[in-house]
Amino acid sequence: MEHFVSMKDLRPDELMHLIKLSNKMDKNSYTPFKKQLFAANLFFEPSTRTKMSFVVAERKLGIEILDFHQESSSTKKGESIYDTAKTFESIGASFLVIRHPLNNTAQQLADKIKIPIINAGDGTGEHPTQCLLDLYTIYQEFNAFRGLNVAIVGDIKHSRVARSNAYALRTLGANVFLSCKKEWQDTSLDFSYIDLDEAVKSCDVIMLLRIQEERHVQHDRFNKTSYLSQYGLTKERANHMLSHAIILHPAPVNRGVEIDSDLVECKQSRIFKQMENGVKTRMAVIEHLFQSRGISYGSYHQKCQPSIVQ
Ligand code: CP
Repeated sequence: MEHFVSMKDLRPDELMHLIKLSNKMDKNSYTPFKKQLFAANLFFEPSTRTKMSFVVAERKLGIEILDFHQESSSTKKGESIYDTAKTFESIGASFLVIRHPLNNTAQQLADKIKIPIINAGDGTGEHPTQCLLDLYTIYQEFNAFRGLNVAIVGDIKHSRVARSNAYALRTLGANVFLSCKKEWQDTSLDFSYIDLDEAVKSCDVIMLLRIQEERHVQHDRFNKTSYLSQYGLTKERANHMLSHAIILHPAPVNRGVEIDSDLVECKQSRIFKQMENGVKTRMAVIEHLFQSRGISYGSYHQKCQPSIVQ
């Protein structure tokens, strides 16, 4: 794997390898890279979790971080995303982490840039590292994917998280259902839609989505006051969940809109566990990309040691 930009074409064995690698990171079975590596985290959209968990993952792996802030960068003088990426490649970045509001940005750059590119979310396209942390969280719970019933619920049409998860979970043998208000259905996704009340009674995983208001046009507007009772996870609905079922949400959470605020940290919620897992899975992605290029930190059997930079 040269880049990590989409979950769509990954095989089951590749997905399972990344999940197992995440588990090794989780057990602190890693040592930082011995070779000096530089990360460029290029975020052209707001982010807390993804950006900061990449920073933590990179530091744990002994990687130096090139400071980039869009608002003080030459993109403000009109430099294109391609020229920005090419600049980082030229000055010695070892890989790029890119979040961008336009679909396919990371994919298009991956065709032209030689260093690894990790897609940290592109428009309504994909969010593969979010998906991997979701998969890892599900795997921790159920130890398997085949036959699991997973409902992806909410703003399907504008969600890159829904797309990546639907593809990957199907690849791994899960039964994926979508649930949302009619206006937010995405006809390009070949999955069945079910009613939320049916989903909560029958699914092992209820994966809620953030409502992506920043991507809404007039047609997508919704009533915030009545949304929760009509389409969100209320306490009444949660009472009908299977006893072993879990709640996921990529966050940030609109408390009281997609989900009752009291459910965010309830027993069946894994929302903060997902964030914790985000560090391990991003470490796994970075490690995997460099393993593919023959750069590795060596034995997994050694415990974490201080950074060794040549
Ligand atoms: N889930 C997620 O991508 O969160 P951030 O936008 O805070 O990175």
